[in-house]
Amino acid sequence: MYEKSIELLNKAVGDELAAVHQYMYFHFHCEDQGYDLLAGLFFRTAIEEMGHIERCAERILFLGGDVELVAAASVTKIQDVGKMLEMARLMEETSIKEYNLWANECSANADSASKKVFEDLVVDEERHYDQYDTEAKNLQKFGDRYLALQSIERSKNIASGAPAE
Ligand SMILES: [Fe+2]
Ligand SMILES: [Fe+2]
Repeated sequence: MYEKSIELLNKAVGDELAAVHQYMYFHFHCEDQGYDLLAGLFFRTAIEEMGHIERCAERILFLGGDVELVAAASVTKIQDVGKMLEMARLMEETSIKEYNLWANECSANADSASKKVFEDLVVDEERHYDQYDTEAKNLQKFGDRYLALQSIERSKNIASGAPAE
């Protein structure tokens, strides 16, 4: 009866795992290029996506399934900050659409707890989308000055003795 829910939750696990890998890749490269604010944003978002995997996994096990920990996509090797934000926005947009549909599907199968998991995920993904959208718009608006500000942030942190993330 809950086979469809298990399948959808496992699809979500695969997407979330791909997001963790992609955002960590972006995190490494932002850090390497000295863009600490963005590096921090990608890092924190990756951790939240890991929390999403946990929520789905718990639900899958409760329903009697098993967790397929296979990333839905391999990492896209982008090093340009503007393109990173573009891809991140698209990934969140896709998750929002899919999780809304899957919430409805779980609801149609009278599985309201799985529906709630997807609904809660949608709220987080909308926030992620918004954060990436803001950064993408700032980059568009301020161009190189936006990137310069990111570099200055690192210098400020080093000068104040704050530990690097
Ligand atoms: Fe997520
Ligand atoms: Fe997300």
